[in-house]
Amino acid sequence: MDILQCYKSTLVTVSILRILMHQEFPTKVIQGLKDLKNLKKIILDGAPVSESFFKIINFNCKYLVEIGLGKCKGVTDKGILQLVSGGVNLNILNLTCCSELTDNAISAITDSCRSVLCLKLECCNLLTEKSLYHLGLHCSLLEELDLTDCFGVNDTGLYYLSKCTKLICLKLGLCTNITDKGLYCVARNCSEIRELDLYRCQGIGDDGLYALSSGCKRMQKLNLSYCSEVTDRGIECLGHLPELSDLEMRSLLNVTGTGLTALATGCKRLSELDVKDCTSIDDSGFMALAYYSRNLQQINLSHCAISDVGLCMVMGNLTRLQDAKLVNLYNVSTNGFEVALRASCVRLKKVKLIASLRLHLTPDIVKTLKARGCRIRWD
Ligand SMILES: *[C@@H]1O[C@H](CO)[C@@H](O)[C@H](O)[C@H]1NC(C)=O
Ligand SMILES: *[C@@H]1O[C@H](CO)[C@@H](O)[C@H](O)[C@H]1NC(C)=O
Ligand SMILES: *[C@@H]1O[C@H](CO)[C@@H](O)[C@H](O)[C@H]1NC(C)=O
Ligand SMILES: *[C@@H]1O[C@H](CO)[C@@H](O)[C@H](O)[C@H]1NC(C)=O
Ligand SMILES: *[C@@H]1O[C@H](CO)[C@@H](O)[C@H](O)[C@H]1NC(C)=O
Ligand SMILES: *[C@@H]1O[C@H](CO)[C@@H](O)[C@H](O)[C@H]1NC(C)=O
Ligand SMILES: *[C@@H]1O[C@H](CO)[C@@H](O)[C@H](O)[C@H]1NC(C)=O
Ligand SMILES: *[C@@H]1O[C@H](CO)[C@@H](O)[C@H](O)[C@H]1NC(C)=O
Ligand SMILES: *[C@@H]1O[C@H](CO)[C@@H](O)[C@H](O)[C@H]1NC(C)=O
Repeated sequence: MDILQCYKSTLVTVSILRILMHQEFPTKVIQGLKDLKNLKKIILDGAPVSESFFKIINFNCKYLVEIGLGKCKGVTDKGILQLVSGGVNLNILNLTCCSELTDNAISAITDSCRSVLCLKLECCNLLTEKSLYHLGLHCSLLEELDLTDCFGVNDTGLYYLSKCTKLICLKLGLCTNITDKGLYCVARNCSEIRELDLYRCQGIGDDGLYALSSGCKRMQKLNLSYCSEVTDRGIECLGHLPELSDLEMRSLLNVTGTGLTALATGCKRLSELDVKDCTSIDDSGFMALAYYSRNLQQINLSHCAISDVGLCMVMGNLTRLQDAKLVNLYNVSTNGFEVALRASCVRLKKVKLIASLRLHLTPDIVKTLKARGCRIRWD
C-alpha cells in the first residue's frame, strides 16, 4: 500500500491524475482524500470504477474540468448522475466505449455541464436522438463530438445537434442511420466544422456533399471512405472547399477521373489523399493531381487503375510527396515502378510496395531509396 500513501501525500497539490488499467482500483486510490480542490483532470484509461468512486469525485473534486473514463468498466447512468450532481461543471468528457450509458446519462451531463466543449461517445450505442436533443438545447459551446459507431443516431438527432453551431470536429463514422437530410441540417448551421468523419455512412451521397461544400467552407479534414453512393457530382462539390487538406475516400467506385480532376483543381491545400480501391479513377484524374496538387505529401493509390505514365507523373512532379502507398497497381509495369521510384527517390520517406516486386526491381533502386533514408514496406 506504499503507493497509496504516496498518492495521499502528494495528491492535494496535484492537478492531473492519470490512473491506467493495470493500476490500483481507483476508488481505493482516492478514498480518504479530503481535499482535492486542485485536481483539474482525471484520466482513468480502462480502469474499473464503481458508484462510490463517482461519489468521492463529486464530493471532493469541485473544480474538476476534465474526466477520461474511456473503456472503464462499471460506468453506469447512476454513476454519471452521481458524478455531475450538484452543479459540477466539466468541460471535457471521454466516455469512449462506456456502452452501458443511455440518454439519461447524457441528459444529466447536459443539465449540469452547460459549458461542455468536448464529448467523446464512441461506441455508446444505446444513445438515441434524445441525447442530441439535450446537447442541442443546453450545450451551445460544444466544439468536439465523437459519435463513431452510435448507430442509434439518425437524421432527427442531427437536426437537434445543428443547434450546436460552434462544432469544429464531428465524428459520425459507422452511424449507418444518417442520410443527406441530417447532414444538410448540420451543414446549414455549423459553419465552423473543420473535421468531419463520415466513414461507412452509406446513407450519405452527393446531395449531402453539396450541402457541406456550401455550408462548411472551413473544412480541412474529411473522411468519406465506403460512402458508396458518392459519385463525381459529390466530389466536384468538394472542389469548392479551399481549405480541404486531408481527404480519405476509399472504395468510391462511382468516382472517376472527372471527380478527381475537379478536386485537384479546387483544393490547392490538399496534402493527404487516400483513394485506395477507387478503381474507376483513370490516368486523367492522376494527371490532374500531378499538375495541380502541389502540396500533396501523402497518397494512398493502392488498387487504383493508374498506369505507368500516370504514376511517373504523380511521383515525379509532386515535389512535396514523402509517403506513398502503391500496392497492387495492376496497370503499372515493373519498369513503370522503377522509373517512378527513381523520379521520387530524393524526397520519399516512406513507400509501401507489393512484396513480389522485390524480385523484379533492380537492386540499385532499392539501395538508392534506402541510402536516402526511405523506409520501404513490402506488403
Ligand atoms: C478517450 O478514451 C479512449 C479509450 O480509453 C482513448 O483511446 C482515447 O485516446 C481518449 N481520447 C482522448 C481525446 O483522450
Ligand atoms: C429517429 O429515431 C427515432 C426513434 O429513436 C424515431 O422516432 C424518429 O422518427 C427517427 N427519425 C428519422 C428521421 O428516422
Ligand atoms: C440503425 O441501423 C441499424 C443497422 O446498422 C439497425 O439495426 C437499427 O434498427 C437502426 N436503428 C434505427 C433507430 O433506425
Ligand atoms: C439551426 O440553428 C437555429 C438557431 O439556433 C435553430 O433554430 C435550428 O433549429 C437549427 N437547425 C436548422 C436545420 O436550421
Ligand atoms: C477515417 O475513418 C477511419 C475510421 O473511423 C479512421 O481510422 C481514419 O483515420 C479516418 N481518416 C481520416 C483522414 O480521418
Ligand atoms: C454507381 O455505379 C453503379 C455501377 O456502375 C450503378 O449501378 C449505380 O447506379 C451508381 N450509383 C450512383 C449513385 O450513381
Ligand atoms: C509539373 O508541374 C509543373 C509546375 O511546377 C507544371 O508546369 C507541369 O506542367 C507539371 N507537369 C505535369 C505533367 O503535370
Ligand atoms: C494512406 O496512406 C497514407 C500515406 O501512405 C498514410 O499516411 C495513411 O495512414 C493511409 N491511410 C490509411 C487509412 O491507412
Ligand atoms: C488497365 O488498363 C486498361 C486500359 O488500358 C483497362 O481496360 C483495364 O481495366 C485496366 N486494368 C486495371 C486493373 O485497372
